[in-house]
Amino acid sequence: MSRLLTLSRAARLVGVRRGELQSRIRSGELAAFEGMVSADDLLRAYPDARLEGNAGLERFDAIKDTAFTRRMRERLLPSTEVLVARLAELGRERARVQAQLEHYRGIVEQLQARLRENPDLAGLQAWLRQRLEPATPAGQAQPLLAQESFLRIMTAHVQVRPSGHEFFVDGNDSLLEAALRAGLSFDYGCSIGNCGKCKAKVASGQVHRTRHSDYVLTAAEKNAGVVLMCCHTALTDLVIEAREAHGAADMPLQTLEARIRSVSPLGEDVRLLHLQTPRSTRLRFLAGQSVSLALPDGTGCSFPVASCPCDERNLHFHVRRRRGEAFAERVFDGLQGVDAVRVEGPRGSFVLNEDSHRPLVFIAGESGFAPVKSLIEHAMALDAAESLHLYWVASSPGGHYLDNLCRSWADALDNFRYVPVTAPAAPADAAVTGALQEVMRDHPRLGDCDVYVAAPAPWANAAEFELLEHGLPREQLLVSALET
Ligand code: FES
Repeated sequence: MSRLLTLSRAARLVGVRRGELQSRIRSGELAAFEGMVSADDLLRAYPDARLEGNAGLERFDAIKDTAFTRRMRERLLPSTEVLVARLAELGRERARVQAQLEHYRGIVEQLQARLRENPDLAGLQAWLRQRLEPATPAGQAQPLLAQESFLRIMTAHVQVRPSGHEFFVDGNDSLLEAALRAGLSFDYGCSIGNCGKCKAKVASGQVHRTRHSDYVLTAAEKNAGVVLMCCHTALTDLVIEAREAHGAADMPLQTLEARIRSVSPLGEDVRLLHLQTPRSTRLRFLAGQSVSLALPDGTGCSFPVASCPCDERNLHFHVRRRRGEAFAERVFDGLQGVDAVRVEGPRGSFVLNEDSHRPLVFIAGESGFAPVKSLIEHAMALDAAESLHLYWVASSPGGHYLDNLCRSWADALDNFRYVPVTAPAAPADAAVTGALQEVMRDHPRLGDCDVYVAAPAPWANAAEFELLEHGLPREQLLVSALET
């Protein structure tokens, strides 16, 4: 049988997104065995696969890097120690396969000799000869498998139980960093080995300790193969057991002081407030959720987080100027004399339904783009959705204040569509009509989609009413009605 490859690794090999492979598996175009695909089937499905210079995937990686953190752009090679260990493991595996092949070759030779002795079994002998022909023309699968070996040296693949989620560990990243970047929601707190929240049990494979700080583990846990994900990287491909958050209810309420990194204009009426959490106390939240921000004098307001939970310590907020709203006024004045902001949260259940593989439709109104941006970046990190369509309604031409970012997503991703809509601010139903007409035109079978709406309350309510009127099932619609 041809070599089996994990879905993530197969996608990397032929230069497509994992979501595309999943959609071909669902449609029956590509066979899968327990979440794996064979090298032969993969080559049949992608006969023109270019094994080098996968431009589409490179563009996708670049988008993810830009969306997440600057540090990620500096992709590092694994350390010498890790490279040597992976090469050694590959050598051991090669020796095991070689020994197995020798064993089977002996059995086949004996079987052929016995068949030759028995003329009645000539048909069986011909059948056996035919079955022993390679499934793919000689040499065709070799570049694919060579590339796979190279990938295994450069990156380790991790499968998570019981969720079945997968992620890759690049360079010297810890297991925790790599998992967060892949959009997974593990429990964690400090990222430096102090809190003990990021425990995972290694079911198979080898890890390498990158930080000597596992005193929070008991001797029994260590003996059972439990490690701290923030203090270990992967030496080889791994299977780990760890608990992931499944929804907003799994997110604890947290309070922390975040440093102000910058306040910068995003447009005439919107400012980007960039906060950074302490190294030892990260904010754990799900994409789309909100937090309360408070200045030392008590001035405060609630905002959806605009950045992805995978963006390490960075928290972004899109603050819209509102008459009489003290916190926004202070932000527009540059938060002079303020060093830190108290953050409390997360709150809200405007989060991605990760169990769904339906196409995703996002309707953002004005700075309702903030939680939608977080959801889109999270969906891109998970790479499981069949398609992502964004309709951004603004009441002024400059209201699409991150238009270039949205266009870069659309340029880079085949499955991403971006439609900016300019509409009158009132009445509310007139404001959302243009966007909804576009949505209906693009999705005549709206019931096949999951729709996420984040907009000022009157717009959000009008859109909710219209979408349900057009037959969208209630459970496939999530609405965030914003004050801002
Ligand atoms: S996150 Fe605190 S020990 Fe790993």
